[in-house]
Amino acid sequence: MTMKGLILAGGHGTRLRPLTFTGNKHMIPIANEPILFHGLRNLADAGIREVAIILGPIQEGIQEGVGDGSRFGLQVTYIHQGEPKGLAHAVLCARSFLGEDPFVMYLGDNLLQAGVLPFLAAYEREHPDAVVAATPVANPVQYGIVELDGDRIVSIEEKPAHPKSNLALIGVYLFTASIHPVIARLQPSRRGELEITEAIWNLLQTGARVHPLRLEGWWKDTGLPADLLDANEKVLDSLPEHRMRREGTISPRATVRGRVSIESGSVVEDGATIEGPAMLGKNVRIGAGSHVGPGSTLGDGVQLAGASVRRSILLEGARVEGPVRIADSLVGRRVLISARHPSPEEVTLVIGDAAQIRL
Ligand code: DAU
Repeated sequence: MTMKGLILAGGHGTRLRPLTFTGNKHMIPIANEPILFHGLRNLADAGIREVAIILGPIQEGIQEGVGDGSRFGLQVTYIHQGEPKGLAHAVLCARSFLGEDPFVMYLGDNLLQAGVLPFLAAYEREHPDAVVAATPVANPVQYGIVELDGDRIVSIEEKPAHPKSNLALIGVYLFTASIHPVIARLQPSRRGELEITEAIWNLLQTGARVHPLRLEGWWKDTGLPADLLDANEKVLDSLPEHRMRREGTISPRATVRGRVSIESGSVVEDGATIEGPAMLGKNVRIGAGSHVGPGSTLGDGVQLAGASVRRSILLEGARVEGPVRIADSLVGRRVLISARHPSPEEVTLVIGDAAQIRL
């Protein structure tokens, strides 16, 4: 038996799509690395080697970025799900890849500090039929919700109108092959999907043991722009030292404070300030008097000219010119934001690729 990995990167990505970010939403960078890569690393760090990625209707950039997975120490294969008919449907599509092996199923838009090792540890220790993890949330109607009595699962429901607890199921699960016959019997839910949450409940009804983990550390489902910014800040805060660079040219009259990573070809000019945690890609230019505040990720080729950016993600080639202060923003590739007059307040923007904005 080998533990396999299944990463779900299908779906429509509808909540980000209208903003016209090109490509698949799982390729939007957090700390300058696509969200999906964080999941792949988590699987690799747990010693998993064979991983399948589920692809949906929008898949630009995934196969180009991940390739055969060797740069992560993984052997990656791709499975086309087509229309997103639910998380359990994705498992059905991966049936022949998974065989009779146990597997970690990882929703590609999830980020979690603890990684997947605690799932494997619980599996080794308890020999259950499945491992799930729960964590308290403020808005339980948006998640799969589990009700616990000690280590016993009392109920488990997908996005209930009247949640019985505030414990959300996070998007990482460990299953054994006992899940397959249960999924084979599932019917589409009211929203027309084969729900993994319902499959877990049905698995319990067969007398199987599902071990609930209480998740330590932060967890983020990055479905919405605000979640992406939150996740970006959390990942920047906890980046390992080996991911931090100090390359490029930093003027002696610039100020760089805290955990700041700057990659090759970047220039930080006189009087510019950068306060970490922050990450600058390659060939970034932080012009004289510009300011980069905590929680910011600037992609390759981003340019600030006299502007200030705080707690934001700017994708490759975005430019901000003039005395504008941008905060809590998600700015697409090659966007141009220009301002002639100082903005009295911080500006918050969520703008797709190649937009031009004059303030
Ligand atoms: O993030 C945790 C939550 O994830 C859980 O609490 C819920 O129980 C679970 O159903 C799921 O809810 P979401 O509404 O967040 O799922 P979403 O439709 O956003 O899909 C999650 C990921 O799986 C996303 O990266 C897209 C991918 N996906 C989704 C569907 C429906 C697929 O690859 N194929 C699919 O058919």
